[in-house]
Amino acid sequence: MQKMKQASMDNQKASVGKGRRVILFPMPLQGHITPMLQLANILYNKGLSITIIYTHLNSPNTSSYPHFTFCSISDGFSKDEASTTNYVAFMTLLNVKCVVPFQECLEKLLSNVEEQPIACLISDAMLYFTQAVADSLKLPRIVLRTSNIASFLVFTAIPGLLREKGYYPIQDPQSEAPVIEFPPLRVKDLPETKTTDDATRDQLLSLLASQTKASSGMIWNSCRKLEQDAITALEQEFPIPIFTIGPFHKYFPAYSSSLLSQDHSCISWLDKQAPKSVIYVSFGSIVAINETEFLEIAWGLANSGVPFLWVVRPRSVQGAEWVEALPKGYLEMVDGRCHIVKWAPQQEVLAHPATGGFWTHNGWNSTLESICEGVPMICHPNFGDQSVIARYVSYVWRVGLHLEKKLERRVIERAIRRLILEAEGLELRSRIIGLKEQVDVSLKGGSAYKSLESLISYIQSF
Ligand code: UDX
Repeated sequence: MQKMKQASMDNQKASVGKGRRVILFPMPLQGHITPMLQLANILYNKGLSITIIYTHLNSPNTSSYPHFTFCSISDGFSKDEASTTNYVAFMTLLNVKCVVPFQECLEKLLSNVEEQPIACLISDAMLYFTQAVADSLKLPRIVLRTSNIASFLVFTAIPGLLREKGYYPIQDPQSEAPVIEFPPLRVKDLPETKTTDDATRDQLLSLLASQTKASSGMIWNSCRKLEQDAITALEQEFPIPIFTIGPFHKYFPAYSSSLLSQDHSCISWLDKQAPKSVIYVSFGSIVAINETEFLEIAWGLANSGVPFLWVVRPRSVQGAEWVEALPKGYLEMVDGRCHIVKWAPQQEVLAHPATGGFWTHNGWNSTLESICEGVPMICHPNFGDQSVIARYVSYVWRVGLHLEKKLERRVIERAIRRLILEAEGLELRSRIIGLKEQVDVSLKGGSAYKSLESLISYIQSF
């Protein structure tokens, strides 16, 4: 019976997708690999065959995807280059070192006549070098931009408009002055790119913009319900086909594309907590903090009196392997009220009835996952797109509290209590549930659903 069901699904896929193959190439970072693999699954379920080219660096667990074909390429990164926290340098280097191996791999795939014909390449927008390679092989390239649309518009304006108007280099990162060109952002919401080399950053962003404009279209893990105004601006700035089909992870039950192993003990711990009583704390796969900040967070959580589930990634506290900087007796003091893990099954945590709030750095994936589970947020952005997203969460959608000040235990304690215990938290929760419902409608027959249908027809037209 199961077999018959599978066979009929496969037939359905073949007839819908006409057996065309798409080649996907993700940026090798957790926040980028996850949405690319989710997109691959969406396209596969629409009948397309999938080949994923990946770098040795941060390679995905290929055995979790027996339905895809994988091809690895050498990225040529040294250990030091691979572990840098300068992401401008990292992405720039990737765009240089991958050119030859990627071109060779793509040529080989295109010459394989036994596979289904290749319709197009879908690459991460930051891997801009792939446009020239695709052009040289006469293969259409569609880009996937893994973050939100509003932050992309700001990023691509940094080397031009925002520099001309004097916003960059940022003089006062705490300034409340409005950025007139990008309402409702303030100067303090503009992306901080964590580089001292502004020229390299500007070149990276200019190439991101020009090679996106040269592409055959853009796919977004976002939707009209969330970013209507930004989509209108994008359509003017980037006159290419635009497909807003997100949130991607809603097309499937939670599954893991995690590069780190997830500690499922948090689910049994959550099972013992009261409904909506727990604050979940996680700052994604990249953010690192110093020991002072770590201790302020620890005391803020402890003093709030609220049960907390805290993800502390190994080596994410500067100078420490894990949580050894916690004061003596701390864990005994919060015993039963606290659970600390190295990496959590985040989607399951957010979906758990005991989770009442999410203190996040506002990476785009985390933000979408929180919206889709109706969990209100405490926003504490760290770098890049996160400050723009935090502004949308706290000011546009009004589904979170913005922790704007320096991390200080009293401020943290107050924010957690407001979110989990007070009427303000209830209001944020009811608003985020409303937003979640609108996003659900968009996926079930609404704008995201229609956009996915157009994307599939577009791919088939190549
Ligand atoms: C990076 C950038 O930092 C972010 O600003 C950008 O929007 C995307 O790329 P990252 O910092 O890792 O991403 O954040 P985020 O986008 O939130 O992605 C983290 C992913 O890891 C989420 O899908 C989340 O579910 C997952 N995760 C996180 C876990 O599975 N377990 C954890 O314990 C923490």
